[in-house]
Amino acid sequence: MSRHRTAEPAPPPGAGTAPDLPDAAPPDLYGRQRGDRYLRFLSRFSSLYLPVVTRPGRPRQAPPRTAPPELLVAERRTVAEDVVSLRLTAPDGAALPRWQPGAHIDLLLPSGRRRQYSLCGDPADRSAYRIAVRRIPGGGGGSAEVHETLRTGSRITVAGPRNAFPFAAEPAVLLIAGGIGITPVLPMAREAARSGLDWRLVHCGRTRSSLPFGEELRALADRHPGRVEIRTDDTDGVPDAAALLGRAAAGAAVYCCGPAPMLDAVRAAFGASGAAALHFERFTAAPVTGGRPFELALRRSGTVLSVPADRTALDVLRDRDPATAYSCRQGFCGVCTVRVTAGTVEHRDGRLTEREKAAGLMRVCVSRAPEGERLELDL
Ligand code: FES
Repeated sequence: MSRHRTAEPAPPPGAGTAPDLPDAAPPDLYGRQRGDRYLRFLSRFSSLYLPVVTRPGRPRQAPPRTAPPELLVAERRTVAEDVVSLRLTAPDGAALPRWQPGAHIDLLLPSGRRRQYSLCGDPADRSAYRIAVRRIPGGGGGSAEVHETLRTGSRITVAGPRNAFPFAAEPAVLLIAGGIGITPVLPMAREAARSGLDWRLVHCGRTRSSLPFGEELRALADRHPGRVEIRTDDTDGVPDAAALLGRAAAGAAVYCCGPAPMLDAVRAAFGASGAAALHFERFTAAPVTGGRPFELALRRSGTVLSVPADRTALDVLRDRDPATAYSCRQGFCGVCTVRVTAGTVEHRDGRLTEREKAAGLMRVCVSRAPEGERLELDL
């Protein structure tokens, strides 16, 4: 999938007013606190500015404009094996809302599925958004639907942009992308080059033909000799995470987006590297860790489902009803949120506010329950 972003992702329902804002930088996709100076600045700015503009008695400011509800597929291109890129424009040609490297948009597909895709064009180009979608065989059906239904001239409902993978533009950065993980990373590379940072980009994949945007990367490499490396398993062998991280300058920040094995390997090797910070984005759900079996009782039907230790509540709900809504499967988008009417939830999303938790909300893609607990869901 896709997904990324320098603005904080949209707050959950009910949040977003000054009293709910944290003093610290917003957590990343996994609820970890981040140390980016830029995010600290944003958070500080929000805590000082929003109380002024939202205080009682003052007329409410119009909310910032978000993407138009419907965009036009102005161009569809095949950019690698099983990968299409879509260029999306406003039907009336209006300028689109600004975005920063790492940002993503949500596509609301005709079937009702909602899927997130990283913006991979040029943030300076307000006339269009560009996304790229790899068809995932046996996936949840979102990528197949994009491939099969969106053609040049189609219209598609869009939400966003939002950013959950912000690029803080540290002085030295190493960008690591695996396959379609190049989508959030490509605008970061351009931004790094434009800002005169000390940057390097490594794009890894199975074969050259499986890697999207090869031409653009080669052009970038020509303009910035020694900074762009494309390596493929068939000619260079499977990359070694420690060796990849060895390309980072001392004290550099590392941004990584790719398949789960690559991310896991980079995370495991990061501690022994000389890099100072690691930012990453998954485009598949993280494996369940530390899970215990529990049960779901569906209040309206009386059905009881068992959730094994190594699966999520969302997985089990989707087994029963494949139309169960989800998007990020990482706890941040909120699409899978359900109301729990009985039982104790082990919240793992890091995004719901205390008020929302007290109201019984649960993000079933990541959150669980203590061993043996039965959660009654309002389903
Ligand atoms: S699917 Fe996004 S929060 Fe669960």
